[in-house]
Amino acid sequence: MANILTRWLIFLHVLSALTFFLAHGTSAAMAFRIRRETDFVRIRAMLDLSDSTTEIMFLSFLSIVFTGVILTFLVHAWDKLWVWTSILLIIFIFIWMVRMNEQSYKLLRKLVGLPYRQGSNEYPAEPPASTEEVTALLKRINVKNLVLAGYVIPVIVLWLMIFKPF
Ligand code: HEM
Repeated sequence: MANILTRWLIFLHVLSALTFFLAHGTSAAMAFRIRRETDFVRIRAMLDLSDSTTEIMFLSFLSIVFTGVILTFLVHAWDKLWVWTSILLIIFIFIWMVRMNEQSYKLLRKLVGLPYRQGSNEYPAEPPASTEEVTALLKRINVKNLVLAGYVIPVIVLWLMIFKPF
């Protein structure tokens, strides 16, 4: 019985990860394509497309965490270092992404005249800033760091999950 439950939870855990990366793909594509854009209409469209998948991204992330925690109880793995390393790495990525977003894409939404959020507060659209200001912000955003934090670290977590080295 416990074995069947574990199988189903592994299924849901992996399914949640698939759903997460499918949903978050819009943000990743946006991050690459928006870098050299100067047309505010296109920038707004890309930001809105990325924003449209945020809820499913957050829900599937919660589902990854929830199924992961239950699984760790079921297989009695709380004393394993690979579990704690994975948890710390995922918490790091999450906090890093939220902080990165505050300083880049949320600010960009404000500069191109879209409604935006800061912390838990929502603000209405303001008059757009100049093209120079928007271009300067886009130049400051480092997509390499996004790939490093959002892709390379999850690859390490996947390796930890599969090989359970320590
Ligand atoms: C396990 C891996 C990842 C996690 C847990 C994660 C988590 C998050 C979270 C929680 C946010 C929302 C922040 C907020 O609303 O304040 C976010 C936003 C974002 N992430 Fe990730 N992310 C991951 C991978 C990636 C990758 C690989 C990329 C791109 C190469 C990426 C690019 C972005 C971008 C561009 C945004 C801003 C989206 C927007 O505001 O429209 N993320 N991420």
